[in-house]
Amino acid sequence: MSFLKVEGVSFAYRKERVVDDVNLELKLGDFAAFIGPNGSGKSTLLKLILGYLTPTRGEITLKGQPVADIMDWTRVGYISQQVKDFNQSFPATVREIVGSNLYSKMGLVKFLNQELEKKIYRALELVEMEDFINRKIGNLSGGQQQRIFIARLMVNDPELILLDEPLAGVDIRAQDDFYRIIGKINQEMNKTVIMVSHDIQVISKHANKIICFEGGRAYPHCSQEFSYDDYMHELRRTNLRIIPRHDH
Ligand SMILES: Nc1ncnc2c1ncn2[C@@H]1O[C@H](COP(=O)(O)OP(=O)(O)O)[C@@H](O)[C@H]1O
Ligand SMILES: [Mg+2]
Repeated sequence: MSFLKVEGVSFAYRKERVVDDVNLELKLGDFAAFIGPNGSGKSTLLKLILGYLTPTRGEITLKGQPVADIMDWTRVGYISQQVKDFNQSFPATVREIVGSNLYSKMGLVKFLNQELEKKIYRALELVEMEDFINRKIGNLSGGQQQRIFIARLMVNDPELILLDEPLAGVDIRAQDDFYRIIGKINQEMNKTVIMVSHDIQVISKHANKIICFEGGRAYPHCSQEFSYDDYMHELRRTNLRIIPRHDH
């Protein structure tokens, strides 16, 4: 049985299909990269996988179960494209940000008991940020904040991790740290990861599956057979088709 299966999935916000007959299969422990131009449907497909949106056609299953039926939302961890836009003056500490993902498990109890405190600490160790537990999130760099958000989702031990352009606006060194941590989560903890990125060259070194998006369609490749040069060539060719020649 495949871990994640997207079968003939289409979706339209209005009339126009922005996800168009997408088929995709991932195995447990895969690291899939979603690449492609803006507006090609990458974020929308993530929201369909999360069950935030419902396909107009087709079905998405996680370990054989339709995602619409999944009640335990902590099985899937998600970092949205907007997360980096949060208010920098937000006064919460790192402990509170990571711990806030555990409150649903505690009901209305507002204090953190020792067991939950341990979970927070372990998640922060995983992202190598345990020394920052009492710091205000707003005072951290973009790369450090991103690692705190990874800890925030790892505190629930999700099976599937969806990251929508997590590296936008993050400097090169912080990107290396980020890939090292995601690599650990993917390979040592055997978590399945889907990450949207524009940096095709870098991500194709880390991901084992590359899915190219164009106009709502998705074309899977293995990273072994994926060629950056072919991709750029194809992109240029496609652009030439889209933009009519303008001869005088
Ligand atoms: N909430 C929305 N309502 C209407 N149209 C949307 C909405 N979100 C995205 N779209 C449109 O759907 C298409 C695909 O968007 P998106 O999935 O965000 O692409 P990508 O993540 O690849 O940049 C785009 O044309 C976009 O304008
Ligand atoms: Mg997007």
